[in-house]
Formats: sequence, C-alpha cells, structure tokens
Amino acid sequence: MLKQECLPEHVAIIMDGNGRWAGKRSLKRFLGHQQGAKSVQLVTETASRIGLPWLTLYAFSLENNLRRPRAEVNFLMRLLKSYLETNVQRMMDNNVRIRYIGRTHELPAEVQDKMRWAEETTARNTGTTLTLALNYGGRSEMVDAFRGLAAEMQRKHLAPDRITEEDIHRHLYTAHMPDPDLLIRTSGEMRISNYLLWQIAYAEIYVTERLWPDFRGIHLLEAIADFQRRERRFGGIGEGSGEVEEDPERIKLAAG
Ligand code: FPP
Repeated sequence: MLKQECLPEHVAIIMDGNGRWAGKRSLKRFLGHQQGAKSVQLVTETASRIGLPWLTLYAFSLENNLRRPRAEVNFLMRLLKSYLETNVQRMMDNNVRIRYIGRTHELPAEVQDKMRWAEETTARNTGTTLTLALNYGGRSEMVDAFRGLAAEMQRKHLAPDRITEEDIHRHLYTAHMPDPDLLIRTSGEMRISNYLLWQIAYAEIYVTERLWPDFRGIHLLEAIADFQRRERRFGGIGEGSGEVEEDPERIKLAAG
C-alpha cells in the first residue's frame, strides 16, 4: 500500500479524544488516557516497522498542565512513568530511541528521572526516534529559542539584521530533527493547538474523526498513504495549474 521511496521523514501527531472515547462508553476519563497509551505503543511499533525516522507525539501540553484538574494531571504523570517503565524493553526490541521536547524541567522529579533513564537506555538505537512533547507549547518554545538566540547574539556582538531562519531553527527544541512532513490530528478538531508552530510551515495536514484510543498502526499507514497521494508544492506551482507565460512583460494588465 505504501511507496517506500516516498515515505515521510517526520510524522507529528496531535493525539486527541481520550476523554470523548471514555465518555462514549460512560467510563472515567483516565481509562481513555490508559487506552491512549496503548495506541502510543502500537503506533510507535508500526512506525519502526515501516522505517519512519521521526515520530513526534503531543503527549502533554503546557495548557494541559495549567488547565486540567490536578488529579488528572497527576494521573497523566503516573501513566507516563509507568509507560516508560513497561515499554523501554519493547523500544529496545524495536530499535526505537526516545527523546523529549518541552519545558520538561518543570515536571515532577521522579518523572524526569524515569525519562532520563529511558532516554539513556535507548540512546544507541538507530531506528525510529520517538519524541514525546511534554509540558510543551509552541509559543513558549519560540520564547525559549529567542532567549537563547538573543543571548548568543549579545555574546558574539551580532546585529539583529544578521538573524536568519537557520539561526532560529538552531535554537528550537527540535534543532536536531527535520521539520514534520505530515501532521496528523485525531478526533476531528481543526486546530493546531500550539503544536510545533514554526516547524509545520510546510507540513501536510491530515485530520481524522477517529479518537486517539481507537487509532492504531493501520490508521498511521492510511494517513501516510493519503500523504503520498498529495502533491507538495512548498509555495511553488503544481501540475495542472495553468500554463506558464515565458515573457510576463508582454501581458497587458487590465486597468481599473
Ligand atoms: C487528549 O485527550 C490527549 C491528551 C491529554 C494527551 C495524550 C495523552 C495520552 C495519549 C496518554 C498517554 C501518553 C503517553 C505518552 C503514555 P483529551 O483528554 O483532551 O480528550 P478530549 O478532548 O476528548 O477530552
């Protein structure tokens, strides 16, 4: 079904709909998150099987941290910790490396310890890099990047007009990875929700009504197959979009 030669390099996912999944079944929200963690595991394994180099999942936003009931935030933290404990061996078996982006230094110390352990244990794996966005916000990432860049410029006595896109890229949390080619959002919402704002400039967007706890490897493959049918233009001209005029100077513009 997939063309191996034009796989995306980087897929980013906004995992949404855990609460609605639980609500539809008259279950407590935490069961939706638990089932969502299962989807994280299965989707990561599919990504590794097809040789996707980068998979970045929005696991916990700054807004989640500030706006959800404390009990739910605490549950999500415990779930993350236990996810790492029970899945690092699978990551080793699947050659998956785990990393994180976000203001992770603000997370509880015992969660950070577990994150560090998982990152160090999987550091030498060479397959898919699974990046979890944790305590992440796109705008705060830019604030952090601009702070870093401003400090560098001060140190090197550089004038503001020397700033390039590349300089900003170097100071983002994602400096070490390519920008996402494909952004998937589950649960049908047409929003970006402060996710990878700089990086998704040219990403193809795929929104599915499916709720995250029902999203499985096969649905990742469907999204990638859809991506492969698209023509990416990066601001250029697509096929079938009109003839190119070789000498635009010849064309008279209609007045008024
Ligand atoms: C949105 O569901 C989902 C999140 C809060 C983030 C994703 C979290 C998980 C998949 C849990 C496990 C993750 C890991 C990495 C172990 P929602 O609660 O906003 O759903 P709703 O909009 O239907 O209420």
